This record gives sequence, C-alpha cells and structure tokens, in this order.
Amino acid sequence: SEPKRSPIKCVGPDYRSESQKPIATVSVPVDFDSVTVLPQTPQLIALLSIIRSKDTNRGDFIFYSNRIIRLLVEEGLNHLPTVEHTVTTPVGRAYNGLAFQGKICGVSIMRAGEAMEQGLRECCRSVRIGKILIQRDEETSRPRLFYDKLPEDIADRWVLLLDPMLATGGSAIMAVDVLKSRGVPEDRILFLNVLASPQGIQHFSTKFPNVRVITAFVDEGLDEKNYIIPGLGDFGDRYYTR
Ligand code: PRP
Ligand code: URA
Repeated sequence: SEPKRSPIKCVGPDYRSESQKPIATVSVPVDFDSVTVLPQTPQLIALLSIIRSKDTNRGDFIFYSNRIIRLLVEEGLNHLPTVEHTVTTPVGRAYNGLAFQGKICGVSIMRAGEAMEQGLRECCRSVRIGKILIQRDEETSRPRLFYDKLPEDIADRWVLLLDPMLATGGSAIMAVDVLKSRGVPEDRILFLNVLASPQGIQHFSTKFPNVRVITAFVDEGLDEKNYIIPGLGDFGDRYYTR
C-alpha cells in the first residue's frame, strides 16, 4: 500500500490558540502497538529542523543529534520493567517509589549507531555496550554483516539496540537476527532510532512484532537510492566525517 504522507500540523503548547501556533510537518502516524513515536513537541521539531538542514555544520549536527538521542534514551528507559521500592527521606518519612529491575546493555549498529552510545552512557553510567558492524551495500542497499562483539551474558539482559536511521529496515532486521541467535528474546529488545521511513517500520515491525521501537520521527518515504526523504542525508558521514 502507498506510504502515508506526513501531516502538517500546528505545533505548540496548549495555552496558545491554534492561530498563534506555527505550522510544521510532524511524524507520519504509525499503526503498530510496538512502535512509540516521541511526542511531536516544538523542541523536538526544532532540533530535527537543525539536523535535517544541509547548511548545518558538523559541530552543530553532533550537538543537536545528541540532544535528540538523549530524549530517545530517556523514553526508552520508560519501557524497562520496574518494581516497587520504598525509600526513607532525610526527614524520616517513607516515599513509595520504584526501582529498575533487570540488567541492561546497549548494542550499537556500527558506524552510525555508535553515535548513540554516549547518550546511553549519560543515563546508565557503567552500561555494557556491544557492537555489530553491518554496512549497507551502496548499490543494492542490502546489508552485510562483518563483525559482532556482544556481552557474553546478553541472553540475560534487556538490550537497547542503537541505530539512528531505519531506511529499508534491512540493517536493523539483520541486527535483531544476530541478537536472537545469541538467545535474546524479541520482547527484551528495544530499538532506539532517530529517523525511520514508513517502509522500514512496516518491514521491521511486521517481522518482529514483539520488538519495541522508539523513534523520534517517521518520515515520508525513500528515494530511488533508498535514502530517507526528506531525511537528513547520511547520518554516519555527517556525524563522523563531514
Ligand atoms: C546506515 C544507517 C543504518 C542503515 C539503514 O548505515 O546507519 O545502519 O544505513 O539503512 P537500511 O534500513 O536500509 O538498512 P550504513 O550502512 O550506511 O553505514 P554507516 O553507519 O557506516 O553510515
Ligand atoms: N542511511 C542514512 O544514513 N541515511 C539514509 O537516509 C538512509 C540510510
């Protein structure tokens, strides 16, 4: 079926009337229960506008991508299990709170996914991080697996899989296949992603309905070279080399 178009909506806080709010293109809606798209707040849309622009230099691309990645990690952590946990405050009163339950690790799909490791470390100080090197063939867009190095006990952990771009979905699907081959069940994988295409989401989430996806934005589609459009170009090149 034809991919949906991104809706153009008024963006801004509720205390403003619709006529006072600016208009921006927001994420395409997604039908999968397993997919969470970050709230399309003015802050997120402004950050995405910076990293999408071809005129943004590498320093700003890194700084503003990191801010979006931090939002993704914070949301991702909300999907991990918690247990009741009561603490005593300095004034001697009890507070009925929560504590995270279970061990986690990050797994980045190299190279672009490595850009998301710092954001994860900022929230989870000594988190273990594994790597999977998958490269998309520039001619065919098909992924090739070159290397992986994962924590030995990964089957006992929740896995935060990191890749900023989900285009055809081939690379992310290959990475989940590697994780599953090491004994990680689908429902313990959270895929954190900055920008997805509708086709990529459809492909990935049909194949893995139990893998949760947290993305900042689902874009309009793919061009003839399977680049996301309007997109932001090649994330890895812009973050690491340009
Ligand atoms: C990019 C991106 C994803 C993949 C997405 O990586 O970071 O891993 O392409 O495309 P897909 O959904 O069609 O598979 P690339 O292979 O270009 O390598 P890089 O991370 O070194 O830039
Ligand atoms: N990888 C990227 O970095 N950008 C795209 O648009 C597609 C794949």
